[in-house]
Amino acid sequence: MKKVNIIYWSGTGNTEAMANAIAEGAKIDEVEVSLLAVNQASADHVVNSDVLALGCPSMGQEVLEEAEMEPFVESIESVVKGKKLALFGSYGWGDGEWMRNWVERMENCGAQLIDDEGLMANNEPDDEAITNCKELGEKLAKA
Ligand SMILES: Cc1cc2nc3c(=O)[nH]c(=O)nc-3n(C[C@H](O)[C@H](O)[C@H](O)COP(=O)(O)O)c2cc1C
Repeated sequence: MKKVNIIYWSGTGNTEAMANAIAEGAKIDEVEVSLLAVNQASADHVVNSDVLALGCPSMGQEVLEEAEMEPFVESIESVVKGKKLALFGSYGWGDGEWMRNWVERMENCGAQLIDDEGLMANNEPDDEAITNCKELGEKLAKA
């Protein structure tokens, strides 16, 4: 079975809501979907996935959350080469700089970005954002 692993960090639930909708969209026949908060995930979940989605909001000043997500992303940089990968996350007042940087970083590691802009939602995902998340999930399932 194709394995789609979704790993995320979320402080106030907005990126988590995106992750849930992505997982829902990815659940089609012949696809095994795992949804994990980053503190439950290890590099093995990356290595053992056919398709990977990583989610994190814009934190600090346009960076990944620094206690859990940033160290995790750093730990998988050496194993994402050739991996089919999608990035997603919620943001507040910025212009998406954290996501542009994150996409570039993963591309530089050799990951194969499924959606080369990353999927962003402003604050709590609205209906349109949730639909976009479900569609991304379907794309992951078929990637
Ligand atoms: C400490 C902190 C720093 C933040 N820094 C940024 C930022 O640099 N740019 C931005 O657009 N939003 C920033 N935000 C807003 C969050 O990205 C936004 O609230 C997001 O919806 C949180 O997602 P979550 O519910 O998954 O934690 C920040 C929020 C917090 C709490």
